Amino acid sequence: MDKNYKRTLVTCALPYANGPVHIGHLAGVYVPADIYVRYLRMRGEDVLYVCGSDEHGVPITIKAQKQGCTPQDIVDEYNKVIRDSFSGLGINFDIYSRTSSETHAATASEFFRKLYDEGKFIEKESEQYYDEEAGTFLADRYITGTCPKCGAEGAYGDQCEKCGSTLSPDELIDPKSSLSGSALVKKKTKHWYLPLDQYEKWLSEWILDGHKEWRSNVYGQCKSWIDGGLQPRAVSRDLDWGVPVPVEGAEGKVLYVWFDAPIGYISNTKELLPQSWEKWWKSQDTKLVHFIGKDNIVFHCIVFPSMLKAYGGYILPENVPANEFLNLEGDKISTSRNWAVWAHEYLKDFPGKEDVLRYVLTANAPETKDNDFSWKDFQARNNSELVAIFGNFVNRAIVLTHKYFGGKVPAVGELLDIDRETLAEIPVLRANMERYIEGYHFREALREAMNIARAGNKYISDTEPWKVAKTDMDRCATILNVSLQICASLAIAFEPFLPFSSEKLRKMLGVSIYAGTDHRLGEQETVNTYRDGEAAALHTCADECTASCGGVCLKWDMLGNAGLLPEGHQIGAAELLFAKIEDDAIQAQLDRLGVIRAEKEAVAAAEAAKVVAPQKDEVSFDDFGKMDIRTATVLEAERVPKTDKLLKLTIDTGIDTRTIVSGIAEYYAPEDMVGKQICILANLAPRKIRGIESKGMILMARQGDGEMRFITPQETLSNGAEIG
Ligand code: 2FM
Ligand code: ZN
Repeated sequence: MDKNYKRTLVTCALPYANGPVHIGHLAGVYVPADIYVRYLRMRGEDVLYVCGSDEHGVPITIKAQKQGCTPQDIVDEYNKVIRDSFSGLGINFDIYSRTSSETHAATASEFFRKLYDEGKFIEKESEQYYDEEAGTFLADRYITGTCPKCGAEGAYGDQCEKCGSTLSPDELIDPKSSLSGSALVKKKTKHWYLPLDQYEKWLSEWILDGHKEWRSNVYGQCKSWIDGGLQPRAVSRDLDWGVPVPVEGAEGKVLYVWFDAPIGYISNTKELLPQSWEKWWKSQDTKLVHFIGKDNIVFHCIVFPSMLKAYGGYILPENVPANEFLNLEGDKISTSRNWAVWAHEYLKDFPGKEDVLRYVLTANAPETKDNDFSWKDFQARNNSELVAIFGNFVNRAIVLTHKYFGGKVPAVGELLDIDRETLAEIPVLRANMERYIEGYHFREALREAMNIARAGNKYISDTEPWKVAKTDMDRCATILNVSLQICASLAIAFEPFLPFSSEKLRKMLGVSIYAGTDHRLGEQETVNTYRDGEAAALHTCADECTASCGGVCLKWDMLGNAGLLPEGHQIGAAELLFAKIEDDAIQAQLDRLGVIRAEKEAVAAAEAAKVVAPQKDEVSFDDFGKMDIRTATVLEAERVPKTDKLLKLTIDTGIDTRTIVSGIAEYYAPEDMVGKQICILANLAPRKIRGIESKGMILMARQGDGEMRFITPQETLSNGAEIG
């Protein structure tokens, strides 16, 4: 490990417990962190892996209010849903706790109090909107009004969902409380601010000079915040859900959710390791890495480090490998529109395919730019990569070993160039993987792991052991021995990425793997953990591996070594590592999204239809009197040749029978028009349209979305009746 670190503390952004997690969260934060942790542990490093739910903040209170329950009910529900999704995907934190826990309240409270006592905050009074009927100050989200930018009603005090503008409550036109619906008054209230401006110089040295190696998106965001000048940030709110501000006279105030949430990393560590937590947070030989999405960068790189610095004695993150966003089928993921693939639904819809999602999300990880998840790509990566390359290779090697050698690893004979060259590729790929994973480039690392499978698949196709078996059993033995050694390397290489499949493969190969230590047992002494090929259950080995591990125990450092599986080693039965995903499973997902997209388009169309054109300039009564508007009946109708929009109508105006050419073919078929009574402007100067003389105009009503309908009297009148 670099810089003489002795241990690594990995945190994952605490998800808000007001909804389930989706593929955007998984790809951005949890899958990459899990790969990193599994890898480090396989390499024998001491890693603590911490997460939990973020259970405070206004959106949770709003959701509770809408559902007529308490915020605690909401967070209890989603804490469980999210926790189950993670473990279902093989993401097993040492602790997954919650910011509504007692340990957290005590820790966050003490943290605030120390900064308060040491005068690290600024106290400021400001005028905030107050709902007199409800007797409470209102968070920005609770204030609604008309958007000053687009005129939409129901814009929130922090954002207009219609036009996407970021707003402040003061900008809203006619702001109202969404609690009582009443108008608001301004009232003075006191809050505490962390003076980030005082940390600017220090942050600049620490990040801009000291961490040039951070991902460019992270570094760039920090630079623009710091260069733009930092402002004091309020760390308290007037709200009744959260950690109470531990200061006399602060009744009705809680810590701002972004002040308490990151402290959650500390309190969760404390909850798991009440005696030894400080080693993880205060010891210079601990490497701290925060896995987050890009919307959390400022909090993890600027605000939380400033809090830690203000408190003193804490370590700072060594890296913050934040990802960009993942889109879904070309559109931004939206929880409110249900435009997402939810982890818990995926686990239900694709049982046994946890690794497929892990694979696709990693292969497509939004590491350097926003990326897209599409179901077709998901299917293609499964069918043409996992099944056709990795699975196919393993299957051929194992089936043929059973067929020709009774399932025992055959003896290796003299190696030919193709054997040596193939085997030589693996240590190179392994070195690349290590470099990539340690540099947080998980997508590239996965590509290299897959290249091992590619090399194996090509090797077995090129050497054709099934043909060789007819003439030269010794050569066939060598080919299968080499193939099985590659399979063993694959079981190691894929363990961080595809733990379920790697385990299945180990079962087939009859081997176990060294998975390192974890801390799920808390303060109990940590033990080396081996995962055997028999079951998912962890088992421990005192020191070196024993026969209970299947006799062959793989370690990361063996990846690419020759002779991982000894001659004569019995392998297990062949099982399919991956199964093809058929079109109907994909279509079902696309159908679900199609319904959502159609709903969204219907809502957008209905909104557009409501847009009303502004009133035209005034006209005089005389001007109006000049218009000769009358009823008329369509006698004949036909399309004007070679046009999409025009109908030629023969009209009985009561005065005469005449021709009018009208651009309504998009809305009415000719046969629909015949016999209809309509209104016309009779004295419009004649015009030639497509060579046809048109005398007058059919009156049409046009909606905001462009839809048009002709105007017809409520009851049939005689033709030529004047309108005015
Ligand atoms: O953006 C989010 O989902 C936040 N709940 C992340 C919090 S991370 C940490 F600070 F707790
Ligand atoms: Zn707006």
